[in-house]
Amino acid sequence: MKFTSRIERMEPSATTAMASKARLKKEQGYPVISFSTGEPDYASPKPALEYAKKAMDDGHTHYTSTSGINELKQAVADYYRSHFGLSYPVSEVVIGTGAKQLLYEALGCIVEEGKEVIVIAPAWVSYVEQIRLFDGTPVIVNTEKTDFVPTIEAVNEKVSSNTAAIIINSPNNPTGVIYTADFLKDLAHLAMDKDLLIINDEIYERLVYGNNRYCQILQAAPEAREHVININGASKSYAMTGWRLGFALGPKELMEKIVSFQSHLTSNTSTISQWAALGALKEAQPDVEWMRQNFERRRHLILGLLDEMPLISYTPPEGAFYVFVNIKKCLGMKFKNRKITDDMAFCEIVLDSKNIALVPGTAFLMPGFFRIAYSVSEKDIVEGMSRLKEFLEELEN
Ligand SMILES: Cc1ncc(COP(=O)(O)O)c(C=O)c1O
Repeated sequence: MKFTSRIERMEPSATTAMASKARLKKEQGYPVISFSTGEPDYASPKPALEYAKKAMDDGHTHYTSTSGINELKQAVADYYRSHFGLSYPVSEVVIGTGAKQLLYEALGCIVEEGKEVIVIAPAWVSYVEQIRLFDGTPVIVNTEKTDFVPTIEAVNEKVSSNTAAIIINSPNNPTGVIYTADFLKDLAHLAMDKDLLIINDEIYERLVYGNNRYCQILQAAPEAREHVININGASKSYAMTGWRLGFALGPKELMEKIVSFQSHLTSNTSTISQWAALGALKEAQPDVEWMRQNFERRRHLILGLLDEMPLISYTPPEGAFYVFVNIKKCLGMKFKNRKITDDMAFCEIVLDSKNIALVPGTAFLMPGFFRIAYSVSEKDIVEGMSRLKEFLEELEN
């Protein structure tokens, strides 16, 4: 079979690949602990389940309008008003099959051959592939030298006459960094000056710890409203990954194009999932806070354990549920005659020898690191980190 160049150049998702490898080993009977998947281990909140069951009983099992049911769009608009003070009419809200689909659709509306999209690295695995699917060119801003905190100067350097959009993701996957109000304001003004779209992936906005505060870009620069699409969803904050429910809010003209695109792609998001998300948004806010507090405890636990390990370092994450760990000192070392040539070899050898699954930094455009998702039980964190420490202590030059 002859495949298109578009699909030939696509790399499979490294997080999914690592999760599958870990699952396979587990099925073979190995005591694998997986820190590879970015999903909460909690059950979806009760109100989500109740609204979904009621929706089925009430016969809500048919198509809805492409952009979603009015009740949910209104609840999303209400949420943005109460949490961020932003005012969006329901006509500027679109419900999608996960944030992933909405990101893809937003890119599809503005990217084509010859267009560039700025991606701030390290970055979530799918952005670059989605840009390439539309024949666009990802342009990478590397933040390693500034502790993963992006600067406006670094972004400015990458803007050209072909730039169509900038993707931002705060709190960030994989670093947990939260962008500052000053940076967001400068970025918003840059978008206004150059007529660019900011794709604001804020899927982790509820997962913020300690004294850190999330800053929404339009709170920092309300004047940039016509240049920002906000993308969010139920997966991370509400532990609803499997329901595939995302939402987006943005300028009317863009949202209309997204609806056209979606009408030919999936039509509406699963009707039952939409009702479940309505239950979550309306009645599961205490569950969100309970999960956040638990993540905060796990974060404290894992950072304490990482602090006791040799050879590694990390920038303390402010939000999300990941730690991005620097393993450059391990490169070139050996584990029982297997050489750690790069971060991918590191993760492979750790999985083979200690049965713990991590994701290599290369998957996030940042070699020399790995990502741990601490969205697993405290027991698994303690056991997994003890194995990782053992591994690091057994490395030899
Ligand atoms: C930064 C980021 N954006 C978007 C998504 C996709 O979320 P959803 O499950 O809503 O498609 C993820 C999931 O891992 C993510 O980490």
